[in-house]
Amino acid sequence: MSKVTIRYTDYFAETMRRMREDGLLLTSVSRDGKPNVMTIGWGTIGSIWGRPVWIVLVRPSRYSYSRLEEIREFTVNVPGTDLNEAVAFCGKVSGRDRDKFREAGLSILPARQVRPPAIEQCVVHYECRTIHFNDLNPDSLPQAILDDAYPQDDFHRIYYGEIVAAYADPNAAERLAPADASPLSVM
Ligand SMILES: Cc1cc2nc3c(=O)[nH]c(=O)nc-3n(C[C@H](O)[C@H](O)[C@H](O)COP(=O)(O)O)c2cc1C
Repeated sequence: MSKVTIRYTDYFAETMRRMREDGLLLTSVSRDGKPNVMTIGWGTIGSIWGRPVWIVLVRPSRYSYSRLEEIREFTVNVPGTDLNEAVAFCGKVSGRDRDKFREAGLSILPARQVRPPAIEQCVVHYECRTIHFNDLNPDSLPQAILDDAYPQDDFHRIYYGEIVAAYADPNAAERLAPADASPLSVM
């Protein structure tokens, strides 16, 4: 299906909801052109320094982290619930020694502005170029969050990716509509 250009805010609510429900798919690429995909559950879209930005949190233990350090570009892809199995798979298997694209049956969609590919079967796509990153500072986090999220001190690196392209399936709203479409279920 050919994708249509969108404003980066067009599917904000749907993107956040899918991130919280099952996760989104972040792609990265190595210098020699091999793509990788991992599931992300934390992040947000916003406006910083007068630019549209995706903020994602990646732990140094992820293979994707080494890719993001090599090529500071990524895409974020919003899957429909039809991809739940692939999303779960990409969230527990590492691309260090597996080809997750192939094993999860995900098709590469060449990106418009960045080197990592988008994922054809997903519904909404954001292409991002890292303009800033910083490491999470444990000294300024509440103890409850440290206990909950960082029992092994595996603190995230936070990447701020300027959104340089955003596009979606023409029927994205329909594909991402929640099963229970009551107004209270939207956020
Ligand atoms: C629902 C879900 C959300 C996740 N969110 C994140 C995240 O935001 N940041 C992160 O570093 N890992 C996250 N993970 C874990 C990675 O997706 C997982 O460790 C993956 O295997 C890493 O792949 P890689 O080693 O190929 O990069 C999440 C996993 C799941 C299942």
